[in-house]
Amino acid sequence: MDFTIALDNHSTLPLHRQLYEELRRLILSGKLQPGGRLPSTRGLAKSLGISRATVTQSYEQLLSEGYLQTVTGSGTFVCSQLPDDLLSTSLPDGNTPMPAQPLVQLSSYGNNLLKTDYLVPLSNAESSNQNLISFRYGAPALDEIPLKQWRQLLSRHCRVTNREMFDYTNDTRGYLPLREAIARYLVQSRAVQCEADQVIIVNGSQQAIELVTRILIERGDKVALENPSYLDAQRIFLSNGAKLLPVPVDESGIIVKRLLDYSTATIKLIYVTPSHQFPTGAVMSLSRRVELLAWATQTGAMIIEDDYDSEFRYTGRPIPALQGLDQGKVIYVGTFSKVLFPGLRIGYLVVPKSLVSVVAHAKRLTDRQSPMLEQQVLTDFINEGDLERHIRRMRKLYDQRRQVLIQALQEKLGDRVTILGENAGIHLMVRLHTNLSDEDVITSAAQMGVELVTAQRYYLEGNGTSEFVLGYSNLSEEKIQEGVYRLAQALG
Ligand SMILES: Cc1ncc(COP(=O)(O)O)c(C=O)c1O
Repeated sequence: MDFTIALDNHSTLPLHRQLYEELRRLILSGKLQPGGRLPSTRGLAKSLGISRATVTQSYEQLLSEGYLQTVTGSGTFVCSQLPDDLLSTSLPDGNTPMPAQPLVQLSSYGNNLLKTDYLVPLSNAESSNQNLISFRYGAPALDEIPLKQWRQLLSRHCRVTNREMFDYTNDTRGYLPLREAIARYLVQSRAVQCEADQVIIVNGSQQAIELVTRILIERGDKVALENPSYLDAQRIFLSNGAKLLPVPVDESGIIVKRLLDYSTATIKLIYVTPSHQFPTGAVMSLSRRVELLAWATQTGAMIIEDDYDSEFRYTGRPIPALQGLDQGKVIYVGTFSKVLFPGLRIGYLVVPKSLVSVVAHAKRLTDRQSPMLEQQVLTDFINEGDLERHIRRMRKLYDQRRQVLIQALQEKLGDRVTILGENAGIHLMVRLHTNLSDEDVITSAAQMGVELVTAQRYYLEGNGTSEFVLGYSNLSEEKIQEGVYRLAQALG
């Protein structure tokens, strides 16, 4: 190898992304010539002292972007025509090259977005394959959406007499009756302390976390978060220029004492998932909650509580939200993506009174308001009891699916599996005991028509090797059983 690659183990950027950047730089600078052969993934991993899966992830990203190509049986090569050449020099007739265009100067946000757009390949499975059984985490049971009631409510609100509801609204926080319904629900079911005035309707948790980050975080500010943690939250913080401080979790949630490892750092914000730590499923104990609030009060840090799927708890009593114990340090985030469907894009924030105005301004400048028709439909759906009925039905269904999955794993994999995250809402986290690398597990599973997601993608530090996140909510019992059967075959 006649080029050098510098990787930084202390960087917040994952190694596969650093390697991707380095290789891309070498290709664009001509140090790796078009047509040039790259070292094998095994060889490069060995010489850099990193895992082969990391190298494969970087190669796959470059392959998908058109920088590399594979020649079966021969290896991986730099493409003869690079995507950047195509963007800057080609003409429609392909004859005379145009002078290279000056590169567009991105803002630091734009550049951060590129840096944070890392995505560990989920699997090699073909998502168009009809026979594919995907354990990809995310969607609730899409076949079970109460479409009849939804359709009726939609037509109820699609009336000419309802004209002002199709106009701009004065209150960018959202439709007041919906905010009132959410506040009632949160007070009764989640022990959140709030009034409708503090509720701001947003387009899903994603927008909630983005808006909070924008109003609180300066470039270089420190944001602590659970390790492992939700990838899209990591991306929001990084794209806004934050420095991420990973804090380990155990079976009682985030280990608050470990925040003291960063004693010299001023932490501005901490992101936690107390009801169901994502993705391990750990429930934050009361003593940890009290400890976390005391730490925040002492240090001045704000807390984002992401309560994305607490409705799906199958044993024991519901756990009240962290926000309910709070004196103004917690920003509570909720979503209808799991209890209803993610395409709805409705979520909400409950913010301390002092922040209502600034968050409402941020929402207005971002997209003025969330769609009103859906907000009205959702209000009736909640107030007429449909949401509660749907959640009760889904809780039962997911509990059955979960039990089927656990039983199938135990029967078909026996001591080759340990279930780590049984308490998680609509997924399980497992550790597979096998001599195969994660990459090989994913590839063999894909060959059997099963899509598996590695937990590695959620770790900022450490690697989560052999851990997998199994989403089951959108799979029938038969599919779950068949999927585990195939997985057992794949593991040999
Ligand atoms: C931890 C966590 N928070 C929030 C969400 C939901 O995001 P949204 O409300 O933007 O659909 C998810 C979805 O997968 C999640 O895993």
